[in-house]
Amino acid sequence: MAEILKPTDENLRILREFLRLGGLVAVPTETVYGLAANALDADACAKIFEAKKRPSNDPLICHVASYEALEAFCETNEASKILAEAFWPGPLTFVLPKKDTIPSIVTADLDSVAVRSPNHPVFRQLIEGCDFPLAAPSANPFAYISPTRASHVEANLGDRIEYILEGGPCEYGVESTIVDLRDPTNPKILRYGALPVEKIENALKKRLPRPTPKLDQEIIAIAPGSLPKHYSPRTPLELRASTVSERELIESDQTTAYLLIRKPKSARAANIHWLSEKGKLETIASSLFAKLRELDDAEYQRIIAEEAPELGLGLAINDRLRRASFR
Ligand code: TXA
Ligand code: MG
Repeated sequence: MAEILKPTDENLRILREFLRLGGLVAVPTETVYGLAANALDADACAKIFEAKKRPSNDPLICHVASYEALEAFCETNEASKILAEAFWPGPLTFVLPKKDTIPSIVTADLDSVAVRSPNHPVFRQLIEGCDFPLAAPSANPFAYISPTRASHVEANLGDRIEYILEGGPCEYGVESTIVDLRDPTNPKILRYGALPVEKIENALKKRLPRPTPKLDQEIIAIAPGSLPKHYSPRTPLELRASTVSERELIESDQTTAYLLIRKPKSARAANIHWLSEKGKLETIASSLFAKLRELDDAEYQRIIAEEAPELGLGLAINDRLRRASFR
């Protein structure tokens, strides 16, 4: 079983050396826990695909300590500079043209690489002492719910990896926003995430093309991991565009779990769950994956979830819920 290590100086030294020599370590970030390997070591990165049972055509994000560290392995541009100044370190990933220093297994043979600099203090302490970038997808088995606690990683990958670095619950609870900057004059959003698109648009002073379920195939051609089924509990999940009525809640039976955006006015029963008291999007996002896991483990026959408002972080929340509901 994997050992969960506290982020002491001594443990961080051990983990850096373990990573340098080609080992896998699950690490906390401000979005979700990642499964990290030395991004310059193709054999180490191959172990990530094996542990997650992830198809080899789904490329990995490379994590760096600073914007300056990108120089060694991708081509930066004016748009990446503006966005890094505004939002790095933080939950924003750039897709940029790659250099040959990054092994092709990391980028699934694409000529671009996805890069981000996380702001989780434990992750920063770890990576600031590494002289290599860390390739890290979310630390969940392929297509299952992403992990936002060390215990989630332990439950899913505990028998496949040696170390999990403890960093507490993830602040944002949904993955980074991904922006395609290969053509700096035409940036595109590839994945909604923890950094609201509106903030990226303000920084670049223009509206950006956004993903919609209809554009899925176009997005998959650029970002092969954007599959319609993802973040999926084993329990079938049905997504409701409108609020579930109190009457439906009161009449519901205990085999159906309700996952509401906010606490209902009066309906109370063991099968009625909510993601926030008052509908605050930050709270909904940070509790989403943990709550989905809890409901999945509770052996309901189905889960009925409500959509969040379609703006800001709500876009990322609804994207995850839609994919989780895909059958
Ligand atoms: O918040 C996050 O981004 C987390 C933490 C651990 O940093 N990581 C994460 O990685 O969500 P992952 O592997 O679960 O999702 C990465 C997504 C995939 O959909 C993949 O297709 C896309 O990034 N991607 C990676 N490299 C790409 C590239 N060169 N071009 C386009 N999309 C890419
Ligand atoms: Mg993932």
